[in-house]
Amino acid sequence: MIIGIPKEIMHDEARVSATPETVGKFVKDGFEVLVEKSAGDGALYHDEDYVKAGAKLVEGAAEVYDRAEIILKVKEPLFNETLGKHEVELMHKGQYLITFIHPASPINHEMVKKLTKQGVTAITLDGIPRISRAQNLDALTSMSTCAGYKGILMAADHMTTFMPQMFTAVGRIEPAKVMVIGVGVAGLQALATAKRLGAITYAADIRPMAAENASSLGAKVTDTGVPAELAVGEGGYAKRLPEDVLVVEREKLNDTIKEMDIVFCSALIPGKVAPIIITEEMVKGMKRGSVIVDISIDQGGNCELTPAGGIEKKHGVTLMGVKNIPGLLPTSSTWMFANNVYNLVKYLVKDGKVNLDRTDEVINKSLVCIDGELVHTGAREAMGL
Ligand code: NAI
Repeated sequence: MIIGIPKEIMHDEARVSATPETVGKFVKDGFEVLVEKSAGDGALYHDEDYVKAGAKLVEGAAEVYDRAEIILKVKEPLFNETLGKHEVELMHKGQYLITFIHPASPINHEMVKKLTKQGVTAITLDGIPRISRAQNLDALTSMSTCAGYKGILMAADHMTTFMPQMFTAVGRIEPAKVMVIGVGVAGLQALATAKRLGAITYAADIRPMAAENASSLGAKVTDTGVPAELAVGEGGYAKRLPEDVLVVEREKLNDTIKEMDIVFCSALIPGKVAPIIITEEMVKGMKRGSVIVDISIDQGGNCELTPAGGIEKKHGVTLMGVKNIPGLLPTSSTWMFANNVYNLVKYLVKDGKVNLDRTDEVINKSLVCIDGELVHTGAREAMGL
């Protein structure tokens, strides 16, 4: 089978869906791999290394889309300014697309409908369930790991003080205090990173299991006041809270938030708008010079003041709503992503053919469209179908 690796076209996207190492593995497994010229430059994976690994370099995106049977991408299909065509238009019936599609998100509905109409079989990486046997396919978890690590470094860079405790000739400097709200994958990595930098760490999560994980990483857990039966739903996932319960949570967290130098927000219920946990009033009560890094910004953010896609200072607090944080760590995030999609392709392809067993949870949850039919439950619900 032929695998195509186009260059990402989203503005400032430095990641790519394959590394020379994964290309080498594909070639060894009997695939032919087409890589668009300079596709990996942003992540420091270079053309000559792809060629050495056995890839065929291709001049433009059109040829990659035309010839490949499986397209591997990082971002959802977008309009290609250079070609004056949408990436979906470059695809054809029966072709497989594996990427992050976020098909339930309204901004992607038109594109998803076009993909379906085009007869493409699309698999979205944000649909891979977080179950143990799918761990090595789970690119979303990999990207959250990157965002947790890099998000803390970005926040530290905006602080006006040291992170660790310092003993200097003129006296002792107290360590910074960092709170993580929403201790899932990104949050745990953020806690671990803040701890390594020498901060005193605090954490809050509505799931008792998440709070336990935070505690085992040395964080002081702040009680959210949310009873477990309200917080935890099917499969152990967090549940969306009603507004009156969120009001209680805000009150419970407020005193701790006031003392923090960094508040890292990564609270989310999968597939929903992010809960507002920090109001403007709460920001007003925070220490001058403190930093909020709100990585749930793609889902609206956990702080009501966070600027989407930017950094602003309000009431003396720096608010960071930077999007695509994994893209700011392109070599490592690409390495993780490329290995996840390599494992996914290996999972799907049997005897030189893509085998989609729709009774398999991994496939059932990640399949978006097939044979001209939109099958993704979340997308169908969101579109009112
Ligand atoms: P996750 O599902 O592993 O963790 C979310 C956590 O939030 C869960 O532990 C959940 O219990 C908790 N939570 C939900 N409601 C809460 C509430 N009211 N109060 C306290 N905790 C609550 O999610 P993951 O993978 O860690 O991602 C976290 C966020 O980071 C998501 O919004 C994701 O989209 C975002 N993200 C952003 C990136 C960026 O570049 N900005 C990159 C990667 C992830």
